[in-house]
Amino acid sequence: MTDSATDTRLRSPLVIAIDGPSGSGKSSVSKAVARSLSLAYLDTGAMYRAATVWVTEQGVTTEDGAAVAEAVRRMPLSMRLDPVDPSIALGDRDVAAEIRSTEVSARVSSVATNLEVRAELRRRQREIIDGERTLGGFSGGRGVVAEGRDITTVVAPDADVRILLTASEESRLARRSLEVHGTADAAALAATRDQVVRRDADDSTVTQFTVAADGVVTLDSSELDFDQTVQAALRIVDDHARRRAVTDQ
Ligand code: DC
Repeated sequence: MTDSATDTRLRSPLVIAIDGPSGSGKSSVSKAVARSLSLAYLDTGAMYRAATVWVTEQGVTTEDGAAVAEAVRRMPLSMRLDPVDPSIALGDRDVAAEIRSTEVSARVSSVATNLEVRAELRRRQREIIDGERTLGGFSGGRGVVAEGRDITTVVAPDADVRILLTASEESRLARRSLEVHGTADAAALAATRDQVVRRDADDSTVTQFTVAADGVVTLDSSELDFDQTVQAALRIVDDHARRRAVTDQ
């Protein structure tokens, strides 16, 4: 996708922030972009999901906001940021499968809307992004693609490239339904509605991810398949690299 001139420009560290609602294809697109550019991949939604598993295991009820936040500050979370082989663990235990369970999906908003939890996870996310930009655990300092709901606006408003990946509610529901139930028939769509529509409504009380902030490029994937969406995202990165090449001259 990128030509050699662009490639050369992309050798200086690059931070790409991608936000979007559930079912927009954010995670798979971000991972593919990271893979294509040999960047680290940071899934911040996975951090909120791991926090949900952790507080549940600690026996903390989500209604006790202060206790939830206190537990999250003690959470022994580690992540491998390789987009080809990402992992997430609590202590020694891999929780990659657990964090995708229906139960966690249903409960995660109650943890993600706790403002003290957000402050703690934001701090950790910023630390990871700055680390990847400089020395780099996975990327060796090439940079990172970080995806979530508030990366373009709050966590990394200074990112080199900021994208809001959107899609119509209809196509987001159909995608998530296919992913979770293997079909997009009426019953599966109804079962998926809570995960997509209700969760986004809850989440949007603390983050704004439906309208692009100033300087954020909107990429609407409603009419695009997966490969076309990845190519479109890479073109946005490419445009940035070209503009950087012009300003650097
Ligand atoms: O993208 P996801 O479905 O894995 O996100 C899980 C939850 O975390 C979802 O309810 C939104 C929330 N989230 C958030 O509030 N801020 C982020 N940066 C990432 C996710």
